[in-house]
Amino acid sequence: MNHFLDLHTTEKTALRSMIDKARAMKDARAGRPKGEADDEQPLAGHMVALIFEKPSTRTRVSFDVGVRQMGGQTMVLSGQDMQLGHGETIADTARVLSRYVDMIMIRTFDEAVLHEMAANASVPVINGLTDRTHPCQIMADVMTYEEHRGSIAGKNVVWMGDGNNVYASLLHAATQFGFNLTFCGPQQLDPDRDFMDEARAAGTNVRIERDPWKGVDGADLVVADTWVSMHDAQSSRERRHNMLRAYQVNDRLMQAANPDALFMHCLPAHREEEVTSSVMDGPQSVIFDEAENRLHAQKAVMRWCLGV
Ligand code: CP
Ligand code: NVA
Repeated sequence: MNHFLDLHTTEKTALRSMIDKARAMKDARAGRPKGEADDEQPLAGHMVALIFEKPSTRTRVSFDVGVRQMGGQTMVLSGQDMQLGHGETIADTARVLSRYVDMIMIRTFDEAVLHEMAANASVPVINGLTDRTHPCQIMADVMTYEEHRGSIAGKNVVWMGDGNNVYASLLHAATQFGFNLTFCGPQQLDPDRDFMDEARAAGTNVRIERDPWKGVDGADLVVADTWVSMHDAQSSRERRHNMLRAYQVNDRLMQAANPDALFMHCLPAHREEEVTSSVMDGPQSVIFDEAENRLHAQKAVMRWCLGV
């Protein structure tokens, strides 16, 4: 049984085979109606619980559709409506759910909740985002880059903005898939120090650059995310905006990257804040391919978890 908790704790070869499987599964159902079943039904007879303690559009819908296309069934649960939100321990919840379902996907705040769930579940647990990481998103992003430009190994990826959970998984991917990563943002919002040290110790080419113009020089891929994540206090909004304004991805900044550079954003985006509409809707943007690839990448993740 495999849990899918983070990219740095999952074997490199397993990650690569998941991306390749996702590509093959996407190709195999090209042009079909979304609700039509895949030819292969590896999740037939399987029940998957999708638990959300934070809002979601893409993760919720893509996991639900993905399970159904593979012949399984889902139940979407809100943490607040479960006893989990009213004092039942995570360990007990994990043991109980394991008696009913074959796999658990959870989106939560503290990553300790995810790890406790995995430690006590007897079925695979998937990280659907915590305050600290978002591995499913980055699997879709790697798949998307490679669909458009071929292997991501050796490419220059530049992150603009807050050193947040999505950045952390991108950093893990830099180590696992062998690309160079520049964090470009203000010092106050620097990435998790432990993750940076770990990546450097593993030989990853990761650097910090405060100047956005120097940051995008030579970039093959520019990535942005919201300036205020779901776990950030709303009271910090203005302060964060003031720190991050200089890192907005706009046409001028994209022109300073390599001519064939792509733009990615995990979405939801705040148009005219971290990125302009002209970039989001422009020729270098692959944001909706990223969103679609959540579906295909996660189907491969689920198959790996269940070994089917
Ligand atoms: N990118 C992403 O995880 O989107 P949702 O919050 O809508 O799931
Ligand atoms: N960094 C964002 C990603 C949302 C998918 C958040 O955690 O809110």
